[in-house]
Amino acid sequence: MCGIVGYIGDQRAEPILIDGLKKLEYRGYDSAGVAFIDDGAFHVVRAKGKLSCLIDKLKNMGSHSTIGIGHTRWATHGKPDEINAHPHHSRDVVLVHNGIIENYNTLKSEMIKKGHKIISETDTEVICHLIQDHLDQDMPFLKALISSLKKLNGAYSLVILNRNNPDHIYLARKGSPLVVGLGEGGNFVASDIPALLAHTRDVTFVEDNEIAVVSRERALFYNLSGDPVNKEIKKITWTASQAEKGGYKHFMLKEIMEQPRVLADTLLGRVDLEGLSVNLGEAGALLETMVREPEFRLKIVACGTSWHAGLVGKYWIEDLAKVLVGVELSSEFRYRQPLVTPKTLVVAISQSGETADTLAAIRESKRLGARVLSICNVVESSIPRESDATIYTHAGPEIGVASTKAFTTQMAVLYMLAIKLALEKNLLSDHEASQKIQALIEMPKLIEKTLGDLKPIMRMTERLRNKKHCYYIGRGIEYPIVLEGALKLKEISYIHAEGFAGGELKHGPIALIEEKVPVIAVVLKGQLYDKMVSNILEVKSRGAMVLALVNAEDKDIQSHFDEILHIPYADPDLNPFLTIIPLQLLAYYVAVDRGTDVDQPRNLAKSVTVE
Ligand code: AGP
Repeated sequence: MCGIVGYIGDQRAEPILIDGLKKLEYRGYDSAGVAFIDDGAFHVVRAKGKLSCLIDKLKNMGSHSTIGIGHTRWATHGKPDEINAHPHHSRDVVLVHNGIIENYNTLKSEMIKKGHKIISETDTEVICHLIQDHLDQDMPFLKALISSLKKLNGAYSLVILNRNNPDHIYLARKGSPLVVGLGEGGNFVASDIPALLAHTRDVTFVEDNEIAVVSRERALFYNLSGDPVNKEIKKITWTASQAEKGGYKHFMLKEIMEQPRVLADTLLGRVDLEGLSVNLGEAGALLETMVREPEFRLKIVACGTSWHAGLVGKYWIEDLAKVLVGVELSSEFRYRQPLVTPKTLVVAISQSGETADTLAAIRESKRLGARVLSICNVVESSIPRESDATIYTHAGPEIGVASTKAFTTQMAVLYMLAIKLALEKNLLSDHEASQKIQALIEMPKLIEKTLGDLKPIMRMTERLRNKKHCYYIGRGIEYPIVLEGALKLKEISYIHAEGFAGGELKHGPIALIEEKVPVIAVVLKGQLYDKMVSNILEVKSRGAMVLALVNAEDKDIQSHFDEILHIPYADPDLNPFLTIIPLQLLAYYVAVDRGTDVDQPRNLAKSVTVE
């Protein structure tokens, strides 16, 4: 997610802005910029790459202004280069933006038709010209701002300067965090608390559908009807390190908790209940051209957690779109003379977009004439750059080595891809498509609910204390989920953890079951419920301690379980979005209990850029 800072006071703004942006570097970014009002003119300096590049530029182009804004950009629309870096400006308006404007294409065409020159690929620049367009109709600034905000669909936090008014910074928020720091001799603005702590701990949060006008002396808040809103000043007690993690102890927990919001961001602008459509941009066009080929098939290549997402995607795509899907580990695929042809669409899934094995796999695929679609979280990273099309997951930077929010957003993209293919092949009626799209839109709320129940997680954490082995069992679409749950536990707690298909136990793994060995079972209502219950009774009769994830009341059966965690009932297709949540949380709390380095576990890197 991008970083925002702003300052107005009696000191030079430049060093304050740069220091604030440095405090937000941990969030990940690929370009940065600042803007000031200098004697009635905008002074905008931007640079691709790290803050040091911006600082170098400022050495010759600095400003003595006491009002300014700054931004570190995590690219979502448009390449990570200087022209797309924030701040963006029109004649009288300069601003920085976090969030995604869903209808920016429509607004962009409108502004261009009215003669506005828009030079970047970003949704942000359109906002400048939209406000400018209202100002050009002689509207007072606040009214121009409010009228513009009412035309924006999507999420935004905006920090704005008006060239004709160097005594105020304007703020607007809908869905993306924004906070005002109230200081001595000046006031501060940021997307995140760490940027403020060096100056003040007295803050006021901008809420959704509010605007604010910040002067050297005070901050005034209004709703979108222009009515004043009274706000409470809060005292921040976090340390700087806690603040970087949003108050959470580790990035991993912060990223687990972010999943409802980032999943909603992944869906934004892509699923439309009215139009019953799935809009995947350039990737959609590629799918539309290929899906009609008689031997069209998919080959998913990925590693680790991304490979598990691919396994889940296979169930959906084959079930809904009747397209044959192979899922391969990139490290295997790249060395085995794979069978891909120009009729194969290779789907590379990668959070980092830099995984060497997956990059090699797509190069081999292209050499063999296949088209490549990547599902990635980092804009313009190596894998998207070498793909024919990319669908970005919009999960924001994932700092913890153990992948969590990337996994759920990868699954969301794969589910949308399955619906898109099924619609293209007329295999889904309007009613079925509407039901599936609605169920997907409901997921962030149900994940929120699942995140709220930590008591059973704490009980299960106790149960796993001092255990050396832990087994996970699941069937059907929950099989890849138990593989992912086992990977989470092993990679951060260092417990030996393995996932098995329930039906596979009798083919060997059940030999591992002995007294008190923990078995985590995902046993959900549906056609495989009875079979999972008998698997559980098999391991129970051999002394296993059973920790079960369930989504129904079944008192007699559940009397055999040692711990039970209930997840909300949902469309069976979409259970993976819910069952993975407790497994992520369990891995996290067990690792904390063991005192391992949760965010940077031993021997692991966040991005495996070597073989
Ligand atoms: C997952 O928790 C691990 N960090 C690891 O398996 C990771 O998923 C794998 O290295 C693939 O990374 P990528 O998604 O960036 O390609």
